[in-house]
Amino acid sequence: MSTSPAAEAARRRTFAIISHPDAGKTTLTENLLLAGGAIRAAGAVRARGENRRTRSDWMKIERERGISVSASVMTFDHEGLMFNLLDTPGHEDFSEDTYRTLTAADAAVMVLDAAKGIEPQTLKLFEVCRLRDIPIVTFINKMDREAQDPIELLDEIASKLALDPAPLFWPAGSGGRFKGMLDLRNEQFVPFAKKGSDSDEGHPAPVAFRGNAIVSYLDPDEQGELEENAMLVQEASKPFDPKAFLEGHMTPVFFGSALRHFGVDQLLAGLGAYAPPPKAVAAVRGGEPTHVAPGDKEVTGFVFKVQANMDPNHRDRIAFLRLTSGRFNRGMKLKVQNTGRQLSVNAPIMFFASDRELAEEAFAGDVIGIPNHGVLRVGDSLSESGTLRFAGLPNFAPEILQRVRVKDPLKAKHLKKALEGLAEEGVTQLFRPVIGADFIVGAVGQLQFEVMADRLANEYQLEVIFEAAPYSEARWLSGEKADVEDFANKHKGAMATDIDDQPVFLAKSAWEIGYVGERFPKIGFERSKERA
Ligand code: G4P
Repeated sequence: MSTSPAAEAARRRTFAIISHPDAGKTTLTENLLLAGGAIRAAGAVRARGENRRTRSDWMKIERERGISVSASVMTFDHEGLMFNLLDTPGHEDFSEDTYRTLTAADAAVMVLDAAKGIEPQTLKLFEVCRLRDIPIVTFINKMDREAQDPIELLDEIASKLALDPAPLFWPAGSGGRFKGMLDLRNEQFVPFAKKGSDSDEGHPAPVAFRGNAIVSYLDPDEQGELEENAMLVQEASKPFDPKAFLEGHMTPVFFGSALRHFGVDQLLAGLGAYAPPPKAVAAVRGGEPTHVAPGDKEVTGFVFKVQANMDPNHRDRIAFLRLTSGRFNRGMKLKVQNTGRQLSVNAPIMFFASDRELAEEAFAGDVIGIPNHGVLRVGDSLSESGTLRFAGLPNFAPEILQRVRVKDPLKAKHLKKALEGLAEEGVTQLFRPVIGADFIVGAVGQLQFEVMADRLANEYQLEVIFEAAPYSEARWLSGEKADVEDFANKHKGAMATDIDDQPVFLAKSAWEIGYVGERFPKIGFERSKERA
């Protein structure tokens, strides 16, 4: 049976989970895969992670620190819908990587710890979603533990995120007194099975809140309290409006316990019902702005992530391509817009939760992994014609700059190649000062340098030393070519080029940029760069 690209795209739900570390992202991921039938038992994501780790040493840091450094995608087919779950790195040092992953997501699930509410990292990630107008579904997790008053949690969402919370469920108690939740849309009560009870394996099926069966789960006081609270919260909050959600003004709120697999089925059903399928994407063709619709015939997509050496036995590099239109078939030829290079995609990988599999067919919303040897870069636009360019994925000015040296000077050439490789992956940024033979490496956080040192040692057998660089800020220059050249000539000692040979000004302080900027008003000092 062959369905149209538009119909296939319409059944895609491509989303990411954002949360503060420890709120339960990993546990929820695992339980969503369980709910979606992609895995049989919880614990598999971790187990799989462990396997992966034993195979790739560079993830040692990940293991030691208990954080997830590498992002991947997991795909599962459930009740007629195809879900693509993009895994975002949890640690704040990887915000740029997360940002890029979110460019490939159509919706996000924001996980909150019911005892903690909105935490700093939640806020940061939320801001990234807002920049991109990604609709957000809220999952208030850990209801099996003592939680904050849920009304206060909603208030926090409204005040800290300027987002209207629309609860679809309302919890009965929390912690030891957590009894379940009421589906506000249909007055069904979803009972929570106490740990150690007969139904510990699963939770009892929902029952009518006003029916006789409710007495098995709530005593009259609890029932009265839930009814009153549910009424109060519905009066105090706006009803769920799918349009406001899609526009990013409103978030539907779910409650549950990822660990106890409670509320997860409801969350998945909610994503299926409300999260948007892929939509048309703005692009440029032949200098003219255009839109690419998921149902368009031409196969198009963009690379949002490149990961090297996922499998150390095959020094492979995998580019993650988010498809934006057409029917992709294995073996198809795609062209890279900015380089004009054509590649035959003979061994695309789809990341089913269980393992890697060859993808025969894929549609808008799907992510395929394309093994390649450095041809594909983050931000590349791919299409059959090669004439289409999506708005670039930005590079952000790094917050920390360091000079990197290799301990064995005979390996300097090696170092250059290795650093270029990592920069092409978008792990770190590489700046080559116009004067001198140093390499300056930029990153958003300190942890990235550690990951980098680890990878250089394990994958490239290079022992490196990071040293303080005499600069603290990097800015891309913009303006008329002659003006930029004039500026660069006058500031040779502070000029560098990035991986794309774009001119970059390295400054000792933000103050210096302001000072120099006043003298050269025709030059723009940009904090981010969109790859042309
Ligand atoms: P993260 O990816 O967002 O960092 O969080 P993760 O899922 O790793 O969860 C962090 C901790 O919170 C884990 O405990 C996990 O078991 C626990 N947790 C997650 N969801 C729930 C929930 O719904 N209820 C309760 N009570 N706990 C939850 P840990 O002790 O740090 O790790 P572990 O030893 O359990 O693996």
